[in-house]
Amino acid sequence: KTIALLTGGTTGEWVVSVKSAATIAQNIDSDLYDVYKIMLNDKGWFYEPADSVKIEIDKNDFSLTIEGRKIKFDGVFIAIHGSPGEDGKLQGYFDMIGIPYTTCDALTSSITMNKGYTKAIVDGIDNLHVAKSVQIFKDGNYSVSQIKQDLKLPYFVKPNSGGSSIGMSKVKHTDDLEEALAKAFKEDTQILIEEFVSGREFSIGVFGAEGKINVLPTTEVIPANEFFDFEAKYTPGATEEITPGRMSDEELVRVQQVVTDVYKKLNCRGVVRIDYFLEHETGKFYFIEINTIPGQTATSFIPQQVAAMGLSLKTFYTRLMKETLG
Ligand code: DAL
Ligand code: MG
Repeated sequence: KTIALLTGGTTGEWVVSVKSAATIAQNIDSDLYDVYKIMLNDKGWFYEPADSVKIEIDKNDFSLTIEGRKIKFDGVFIAIHGSPGEDGKLQGYFDMIGIPYTTCDALTSSITMNKGYTKAIVDGIDNLHVAKSVQIFKDGNYSVSQIKQDLKLPYFVKPNSGGSSIGMSKVKHTDDLEEALAKAFKEDTQILIEEFVSGREFSIGVFGAEGKINVLPTTEVIPANEFFDFEAKYTPGATEEITPGRMSDEELVRVQQVVTDVYKKLNCRGVVRIDYFLEHETGKFYFIEINTIPGQTATSFIPQQVAAMGLSLKTFYTRLMKETLG
């Protein structure tokens, strides 16, 4: 089968995407799949087989023509975090031209790209809680003093459709709120301001295959920085990460049910990763967000969780491709 592996993107996460695509290219079974890595960015959609050789994709059918030979793809492995790979745009395009892809569908991708709307949907799932938050719009009317009244410090200020903690701040003093809002508005037109949950942070992969929802081992995150920011995410050794995370059997059973319910309620497909807190005092789970194109870099959690299951990435990506191609 001929597969396009999509990388790049138009957000600050493109650097992460390039690393994710490198892991996938190295580990995907080359006996089963003929893989073409395609870069999608502001400059266009290209296959770059060698330095300074760029072959443009025909957007009518997502095909390539190499030395007069037309190459059509049986499926695409989308490894673009953020726009346009994780937010439903490419999913809608591939649905229109009839090429199967590895991820959630267009609707689920676009909803889950928005942290605030996603929280509204998962709120109400048994044993899952959401931190109190306020969602504001760049051109809308919002009042900084109202936010200060409505939320307790400290809080997180996040670009609502952001990833990898780009544009995000932890605010401990109300004096710092406006600067944090300005920083987040550079990345997005919507912002989520969310109360801090005092707890331990975890992340867990969920993978639907052959009609079954499989939950991967958890990863516990102990960042050395104030929170799990971009540097902590992608600098090897900057964060202590424990897979499987430290959790009682009861907590593990509870969270496995919770994330299965999230996967079902959001109608997910393929592999996703759900981030959550386990609150210190109460033992309650608080939803942080879902990533429908989770990182596959050397420091990302999914490769660590797959290894902890005793599976090779090669086997894992083959299962994902089989699920995609049918
Ligand atoms: N947004 C990054 C890539 C992740 O969730 O892994
Ligand atoms: Mg994320």
